[in-house]
Amino acid sequence: MKYCLKVSLAIYILFSGTTALRAADFTLKITKRYLNIPVSQQEERGTMQFTLGGKKERSFKIRLASNKPEYWVFCDVTAFKGKTLAISYSGNTAGLSKIYQDDKIAGQDSLYAESKRPQFHFTTRRGWINDPNGLIFHEGEYHLFYQHNPYEREWENMHWGHAVSKDLVHWQELPIALYPDQLGTMFSGSTVIDYNNTAGFNKGNTPAMIAVYTADNPDKQIQCLAYSLDKGRTWTKYAQNPLIDSKAKWNSKDTRDPRVFWYKPGNHWVLVLNERDGHSIYTSKNLKDWNFESHVTGFWECPDLFELPVDGNKNNTKWVMLGASNTYMLGSFNGKTFTPESGKHYFNTGSIYAAQTYTNIPETDGRRIQIGWGRVPQTGMPFNNMMLLPTELTLHTTKEGVRMFSVPVKETEQLFKKIQQDNTLAAEEANQKLQSFSKSDRLRIKATLQLSHATSAGLNLFGQRLLDYDLNFNKVNNVFYSPEDRTSMEISADIYLDRTSIEIFIDGGAYSYSMERKPELNNQEGFHIWGNNIKIKNLEVYSADSIWQNSLAK
Ligand code: FRU
Repeated sequence: MKYCLKVSLAIYILFSGTTALRAADFTLKITKRYLNIPVSQQEERGTMQFTLGGKKERSFKIRLASNKPEYWVFCDVTAFKGKTLAISYSGNTAGLSKIYQDDKIAGQDSLYAESKRPQFHFTTRRGWINDPNGLIFHEGEYHLFYQHNPYEREWENMHWGHAVSKDLVHWQELPIALYPDQLGTMFSGSTVIDYNNTAGFNKGNTPAMIAVYTADNPDKQIQCLAYSLDKGRTWTKYAQNPLIDSKAKWNSKDTRDPRVFWYKPGNHWVLVLNERDGHSIYTSKNLKDWNFESHVTGFWECPDLFELPVDGNKNNTKWVMLGASNTYMLGSFNGKTFTPESGKHYFNTGSIYAAQTYTNIPETDGRRIQIGWGRVPQTGMPFNNMMLLPTELTLHTTKEGVRMFSVPVKETEQLFKKIQQDNTLAAEEANQKLQSFSKSDRLRIKATLQLSHATSAGLNLFGQRLLDYDLNFNKVNNVFYSPEDRTSMEISADIYLDRTSIEIFIDGGAYSYSMERKPELNNQEGFHIWGNNIKIKNLEVYSADSIWQNSLAK
């Protein structure tokens, strides 16, 4: 493996008479599954290009390590097995000789066992992730596609990464679904199953999974289609892409993140697209030809639009329109126009961004399940960011009107085992009960605090404020929050602590927030409940399993 590459390099060097390699730096006969490539953040980005018989196959930016690699990334070259790839690099070529092919990725044996690998949140093997894309349930699998830079722990080279799960908790990573192409890099989008073969891509009894995504290039952002006939494993791009090119109309490059769903009453497809200053609605009969219908201003990026029952009553529903910040409007939708009635409201804040909900959840289940991108740095790791826990979204009538609630999906319960429960404790007693857990790398704590003064109370961990409830200013961790019972002197928090992140659900999901887990340097305090003469009405501690225990990376 390594040998092969070194030989080609040596030959090149011999014949070029110089060690300074330029374009088309070497050729390599692909015999293995991966190219392992050394990376260093200290290095400038250069463009690496693979060509086969003169045809450009892949092109991406990478910080090829010229000295000691900070970490290794991998490039799946299964598609080129048996062929001879010409590889060129525009940056510092000193690291080219370290690239090697293998059937394992560099670091495979310690995969998911890295010191800071989140233990019950999805992260990717190597590289950067942002928005969840194309969330869909199909034939027993929850698909999680996501914005992905496979070649660095920072944003660049957008691909669609891919993972599947049978329970929304344990994930199996699969090869990259969508690679950048001549139209651009693969920005966010969504997927549907074309049961009625409206687009004509189905084969026999196999309905196509169809992805509608944005291709981003230096000039514009255009909406494109790809389809898969093997449950999202391999994809074919539609030859007549793009479907929508609306840069001229909006006099803006910001036209992206198509969110597609089937609108049953109208027997047509709906596509919600963020265009410059808000979300537009397009409709189509065949997923290829789209008509512009309407536009709602006041949203930025990553639209979502869906109908939800109010208080579980299917005869009383509202439509919810969201933007990337997860703020939302409630309203009605007739298949072509969303008419806002109230909002914007928020139900969570913090590290969440660009969340998306699942399509194609069976009617017998009927849940609206959301996954948000967790903007949580994974410091020092060869991967970055994470997905937050999948949550179920519901609408409830409150004194303020109808509002969205979110709680982790019931499937997550399997991870947590109750190891301690106490009622009616003074803060000091509760602190003692919690002390031995302060250094746990993962844990869940449920607590209900009862205040005795309308001032502040909360819970710290090594100085970091996990919960800071200010009943004078009506804020939780600095965000306005007032409980349903305005005279209540209580607050409850369901706290999920993972190695690098914390997610907190307040009062049954009326409000939630997430943050990086960041203990204060040199703080020795551990868990610390504070407040003027407060009581802890209920304190439950749960151990947390790792989702990676039996993982086999494919
Ligand atoms: C949101 C976003 C999307 C875009 C994607 C690119 O985080 O900016 O609008 O499609 O990320 O990675």
